Amino acid sequence: MTLPVYLYGQPVLRKVAENIEKEYPELNELIANMFETMYRSDGVGLAAPQVGLSKRIIVIDGEPMAEDFPECKGFKRVLINAQIIERTGEEVALEEGCLSLPGIHEKVSRPTVVRIKYLDANLDEKEEVVEGFNARIVQHEYDHLEGKMFIDHISPIRKQLIKSKLNNIIKGNARCSYRAIAVGK
Ligand code: NI
Repeated sequence: MTLPVYLYGQPVLRKVAENIEKEYPELNELIANMFETMYRSDGVGLAAPQVGLSKRIIVIDGEPMAEDFPECKGFKRVLINAQIIERTGEEVALEEGCLSLPGIHEKVSRPTVVRIKYLDANLDEKEEVVEGFNARIVQHEYDHLEGKMFIDHISPIRKQLIKSKLNNIIKGNARCSYRAIAVGK
């Protein structure tokens, strides 16, 4: 089942999400729904706050990026209660988009290597070093758990330039090819 995507302006996107408990009800169904929602909207990552749930769950499938970034091939993950323990490598600026910010693409500078700790879909503990574009996806999604969005990383001038687009998203006037919930609709 696809879930509606909460758009910029929705308070849930600005909350710090909570860890999930070991006995979280219907976790597998939620994960399946999050993957389905992500695939249907052509995303490569989705965090639970984007479907209105303030929980620390992330799904990622980098496969569509593999042509440009070979490290994305086969990078499919469920990250539960994820922590970024270390960010290293050089900072690289690349364009990002977000299902909660339809029509907005801006360059964001991020480190290229992260070490993460998380529970996988079976709630097994994992630790992993993630590099290149995958590190970008992880950091972008992790931001959602912290109540942040990629536009928080751009300069005040760029932010000013996209202000009317942001207002359109809030009003529910942004064009969106997937089911979404804006504040104003
Ligand atoms: Ni996003």
